[in-house]
Amino acid sequence: MGRGHELLQQLAARQDVAEFQDLTWEGSFADFVDIVVAQPQVTRNAFQRMYDMILSYGYSEYTEYKKRIVRYHFFNDPKNDGQDAIFGLDLHLMKLVKIFKAAAQGYGTEKRVILLHGPVGSSKSTVARLLKKGLEEYSRHPDGALYTYRWAVPDELGAVVVTRCPMHEEPLHLVPDHIRADFFRSLNAAIGEGSTPVKVDGDLCPVCRFIYNDLMRKHNGDWAKVVSHVRVERVFLS
Ligand SMILES: Nc1ncnc2c1ncn2[C@@H]1O[C@H](COP(=O)(O)OP(=O)(O)OP(=O)(O)O)[C@@H](O)[C@H]1O
Ligand SMILES: [Mg+2]
Repeated sequence: MGRGHELLQQLAARQDVAEFQDLTWEGSFADFVDIVVAQPQVTRNAFQRMYDMILSYGYSEYTEYKKRIVRYHFFNDPKNDGQDAIFGLDLHLMKLVKIFKAAAQGYGTEKRVILLHGPVGSSKSTVARLLKKGLEEYSRHPDGALYTYRWAVPDELGAVVVTRCPMHEEPLHLVPDHIRADFFRSLNAAIGEGSTPVKVDGDLCPVCRFIYNDLMRKHNGDWAKVVSHVRVERVFLS
């Protein structure tokens, strides 16, 4: 066997089929609701996702001048061999993480703009870069998976027109207002206690609302038929 064949075989062996299937998963709205029941964390808001992403790297604690300090290992940038690791700012990084935590729990900080204030070259941009890279990577990981959807609607000639939600919206926005309360009550009952209740704020974006209303008219108000045009898929933050 020639060297070329060997190289190709090595390459083929390195492919991760399970990961590929995971990343390219798609399904119906009902398949997505199954995922939410099994992994309610897919519906987390941005602050919860950021906070969980940072925590997923673990942390350690130490005492300095009688003060308990938490070192979040995320800021060691372990996935990039410490390229953007930040040192000596644990107290400030703790405050930053605390803001994400409070915002994740809806204590009001989610309505604020976070300003990193400090001298030139004190790693403000590095912190922002780390958070961006961390979120990108987390969205490709099963623990950080998040989902959106696209519409597949046949036109007059029968050709299927595919429209992606331009806002990469949360699929649960498709649940209409008048049944939302009931829907989430049943959904959270199915999820069971011990996990933060799933709740979704916000409504369809203008493009999706237009398609939704149009399909509602076509299907005489049959919501199940409207969402049968929906294909749910993973989103990767970039
Ligand atoms: N505490 C620190 N630990 C490790 N590296 C640091 C630290 N502070 C700064 N650096 C390094 O110094 C360089 C400059 O940092 P960075 O560009 O993030 O600073 P900045 O606060 O955004 O500065 P500016 O105010 O000029 O925008 C980067 O390579 C960064 O990794
Ligand atoms: Mg900067």
